Amino acid sequence: MRTAGVPDADDVAAYYDVMGPLLQLVWGDNFHFGYWDDDQDTSDLAEATDRLTRVVAERLAPRPGDRVLDLGCGVGVPALRLAALTGATVLGISYNRRQVDEASDRARAAGAQGRVRFAYADAMALPYPDASFDAVFALESFVHLDRPRALRECVRVLRPGGRIVLTDMLLRGEIAPELRSGVEHGLAVQRLAPFPTADYYRDLADEEGLVVEELTDLSDHTRLTVHRIADSVTRHRREIEERYGDQARAIAAAMRSPLQLMPEFGYQLLLARRPFATGPSAV
Ligand SMILES: C[S@@+](CC[C@H](N)C(=O)[O-])C[C@H]1O[C@@H](n2cnc3c(N)ncnc32)[C@H](O)[C@@H]1O
Repeated sequence: MRTAGVPDADDVAAYYDVMGPLLQLVWGDNFHFGYWDDDQDTSDLAEATDRLTRVVAERLAPRPGDRVLDLGCGVGVPALRLAALTGATVLGISYNRRQVDEASDRARAAGAQGRVRFAYADAMALPYPDASFDAVFALESFVHLDRPRALRECVRVLRPGGRIVLTDMLLRGEIAPELRSGVEHGLAVQRLAPFPTADYYRDLADEEGLVVEELTDLSDHTRLTVHRIADSVTRHRREIEERYGDQARAIAAAMRSPLQLMPEFGYQLLLARRPFATGPSAV
């Protein structure tokens, strides 16, 4: 049974069929938030989203040759970047076949097929054996997932001692009652599960037997993302209307909505480790 408010996986895949080209137009090839030093940082979206990949790669810190799973790989840019930065071998998975094809083309074009591969798979039912990866990262894929199911799968495929890094949205405060239906509409249009609060991942990691090494509110560094995307949607408005039809128009409107800018919405990063042994003495 699905957790309340979590979108259907096939529906998310269909959303990316429509949204993929539009996201690439307005956001770039990294489908995740950017990281800026502060509000004066003039980096553009491409630089800032790449910087967030580097933040994740530094936290994950795989060794050369380690087997890394990228859960929800988009069009493959973060997996290729992490492999280049660390020397790890990366398998990226997505439940959207077009993304897997585009990411595979990208790996071929980069001559990286030996170290970076992509496959079609559901993050909530991974077709991989237990303990088959040294590390797992998930850049914003948990926004679409049944989080407990997905984290359980990550823990299952992670070897004891292995690390997971994920980034997700963060609900930093109560949403005013008069805004709730608008927020729910925005989440549904963008196929997003309700956002987790600050304590959520500490509790969930604990339930799944992970040791939390870091749980950070990155909102002060990621805040510019929604402004930059809203500006970009405005700049590309005519093209979106002409090329992508009604559904994309509705999604683009949600991406430009003032609700996106609410201070209650933030961004978080989790770094956790699967302990070598379970039980009271496990560390
Ligand atoms: C916001 S995008 C992030 C993509 C990528 N991590 C990046 O940073 O560019 C979310 C990703 O999660 C993937 N995804 C959503 N639901 C999934 C599922 N059930 N199984 C695997 N991937 C899924 C989407 O196809 C998409 O690639």
